[in-house]
Amino acid sequence: MTEQKKSGSAKLWGGRFAEGTAASVEAFTASIHYDYRLYKYDIAGSKAHAAMLAASGILSREELTAITDGLTTIEVEITEGTFHFRRELEDIHMNIEKALVERIGPAGAKLHSGRSRNDQVALDFKLYLRDQCDEVITLLDGIRRAFVRLARKYLGKIMPGYTHLQRAQPVQIAHHLLAYYEMFGRDRERMVDCRKRLNLCPLGCAALAGTGLPIDRQQVAESLGFAGVTANSMDTSGDRDFAIEFTSGCTMIQLHLSRLSEELVLWSSQEFDFVNISDKFCTGSSIMPQKKNPDIPELIRGKSGRVVGSLMALITLVKGLPLTYNRDLQEDKEPVFDAVDTISACLAIMAELLENLTFKTERMAAATQKGCMTATDLADYLVLKNVPFREAHGIVGRAVAYCLEKGCELPDLSIAELGRFSETIGKDVYEVLSVEGSVNSRISTGGTGIQRVEEALLAAEKQLGIGQ
Ligand code: ARG
Repeated sequence: MTEQKKSGSAKLWGGRFAEGTAASVEAFTASIHYDYRLYKYDIAGSKAHAAMLAASGILSREELTAITDGLTTIEVEITEGTFHFRRELEDIHMNIEKALVERIGPAGAKLHSGRSRNDQVALDFKLYLRDQCDEVITLLDGIRRAFVRLARKYLGKIMPGYTHLQRAQPVQIAHHLLAYYEMFGRDRERMVDCRKRLNLCPLGCAALAGTGLPIDRQQVAESLGFAGVTANSMDTSGDRDFAIEFTSGCTMIQLHLSRLSEELVLWSSQEFDFVNISDKFCTGSSIMPQKKNPDIPELIRGKSGRVVGSLMALITLVKGLPLTYNRDLQEDKEPVFDAVDTISACLAIMAELLENLTFKTERMAAATQKGCMTATDLADYLVLKNVPFREAHGIVGRAVAYCLEKGCELPDLSIAELGRFSETIGKDVYEVLSVEGSVNSRISTGGTGIQRVEEALLAAEKQLGIGQ
């Protein structure tokens, strides 16, 4: 029976089937409605594969030209939105291949020599993710730049540092901001690392076992900018580690964005009143005219669920799969697409929001004056006078309790009052009890002392190529 005589005969794999595919099955198995996104990579991969087939003598020069030109035409049509995608052709690979055969005839039918959709889809996905790594890195640099600009602007200004969301020790606003610079810096490294590890070409592994045709995998890899080829064809056709790694990197980014969002929501509340998020980045309430809501950070925080969900979907997807390709793996793309769309949108809008954020430095500084925030400094003062730290901790704890009872702060206590807790305390104590003294004393590496923060800021500016 020829392909033409069967119902549903458009299939590129239709040869061994006596009956056409049920419409319900076509609907259920199709992935074209989302994997069309890979078209550029599919076409780039096919062109590289065709060039290699020509070099190996499997395609003639004329056939190669026809294939390359045909693929270029298809790419233009898809980009311009005039290409007709067919669901019965399942996915992007078969939509493009079928269109090519229809346009250029038998030469198009030779393109799939020495490859399978299994290595083809792995190739497309890797090429796509390689570009996404680069784009995410650019977005991460954008948000890191925003933090560095803010840190420079507020260098020297002080705020309460918190642990357990309780006032703990005074810190520099710039130090707090540069903490995020570090976090997004690690996210950047993860993307660089992910890109490096995924940058090995899977094409030529064919279905699972390699091919007997005289292909040159190295040539394809080089022409597509890969660092080399994957080593084991069976590993390659079922490997989705790279997608999981990428999505895990996305998840970490989203978690960092979510923590930042939480702080912005808190800080913009009347209770904290530490920052002003520009009107352009807030929305109002349909019923309460006085409201100005921090919807952007709230939505970013809320979108964490979907990114974490994507990671869960992927890791669950591969758990329990026997080696090489299983159709389950078609479920790998949507979570990745959703994760990267989500973090890209969140990174971009958060960078913009940060550029439009102002800190209420006086309120932040005032907040450091309450809560005995220099208590640790007093303990350290005693340590330097040879009081064992645990004993010093107890002394200061009692002094703090006294302040709480009296309704005052540590620097408000007279030397006589302080002397009741320890004879070691002298007049020089007031230097360490001031908030400025406290911050500036913290000159240990990575600490909040002005010198350290300035060094960190300069290093960050240098890294990002920001001149002053
Ligand atoms: N659409 C498929 C996917 O995304 C392509 C690979 C299909 N391979 C196969 N042998 N059915 O995984």
